[in-house]
Amino acid sequence: MTDTTTPSRPSSRPSGPSRPDSRPFRLAINTGGGDAPGLNAVIRAVVLAALNRGWEVYGIQRGYEGLYEEDGLTPMTRATVEGIAHLGGTILGTTNRGNPLSWPRTLPDGTVERVDRSAELIEAFKGRGLDALVAIGGDGSLRIASELWKKGLPVVGVPKTIDNDLAATQVTFGFHTAVQTASDAIDKLHSTAQAHSRVMVVELMGRHTGWIALFAGLAGSADAILIPEIPFELQEVCRHLEDRYERGPRYGIVVVAEGARARDGEASVVDTPSGDSQRYGGIGQEVAAEIGRRTGFETRSLVLGHLQRGGQPTAYDRVLSLRFGTAAVDLVAAGNFGSMVALQPPDVRAVPLAEAVEKIKEVPVEGDTVITARRLGISFGG
Ligand code: F6P
Repeated sequence: MTDTTTPSRPSSRPSGPSRPDSRPFRLAINTGGGDAPGLNAVIRAVVLAALNRGWEVYGIQRGYEGLYEEDGLTPMTRATVEGIAHLGGTILGTTNRGNPLSWPRTLPDGTVERVDRSAELIEAFKGRGLDALVAIGGDGSLRIASELWKKGLPVVGVPKTIDNDLAATQVTFGFHTAVQTASDAIDKLHSTAQAHSRVMVVELMGRHTGWIALFAGLAGSADAILIPEIPFELQEVCRHLEDRYERGPRYGIVVVAEGARARDGEASVVDTPSGDSQRYGGIGQEVAAEIGRRTGFETRSLVLGHLQRGGQPTAYDRVLSLRFGTAAVDLVAAGNFGSMVALQPPDVRAVPLAEAVEKIKEVPVEGDTVITARRLGISFGG
């Protein structure tokens, strides 16, 4: 990976980019894709760091949608971002359907066609006197940002996703909070599973990767953790549970990542309108039904779902978000566009956007965390 900044960020206040006229530099900010705890902390950090440089800041409502609307831009002041760092969601709103390069347009006969509205977007951006954009998003939103940069939009990206699946950064904000929420839920499942001598199967988010399931399952002392990176053999999971029931205690917890699949099966996906990104769901129920059928143990399943995206960010996620936000403003000040901030401990560095969205980060199956779980006797079904 190529670093495009020096390892450490300047601690002094470098002057902002120069403008030919005398008006202040105008920074825009938006949040795209699924929400993640920590978005508001990034917004606060970007706004304060930019205002402290004497810039103006404008929030674009709901991803890029606000740029196409009369009243879709909000001036961001100190008051706007007062007391928001600990709040979940995003005060700017978000969407995972507003791709300017493939915008849905409904035709008179009701069918939907996709049109490229990126030129219109860039024109609107410049027409409103905006000088640069900080785009906060996951892989989809950052891919859009990367394309818009190639088309001339001065943009810096901030990586967000509870899934933690962006390769360029050691961790994304939102992940830590999602893991905490999921492991709290698993803690609660232990008592009800024990009371009823049941197997409880919980399906967690994560899309194509098993980061949330692995970390929450490990923290929550699951008996089995099924992740997309290790296609599972259900018979092995059943054997594992039978052994456990035989030696006691007679209950079990199985954590299933939504993107997990059996060795001889397919991932369980949900039908979505055409053009929407793939959505997973249903594997937890399938696994529970099959465990119940093969072992005879009473088995129940639940999907934790969007609870994992909601609520207050943990202190860790807040601090990471604040670091990312201020680093993004430093990159704008340095004119380092087409880049994304990334955590490469101990520093926050810049990586080229195009490189950052090239591939997703999967759980390393021979990595220390998987090995830790295996040493503790947790089954991966393979
Ligand atoms: O990418 C974040 C995420 O929460 C995934 O874990 C999940 O698969 C997806 O978004 C759900 O998206 P939606 O909110 O559109 O159902």
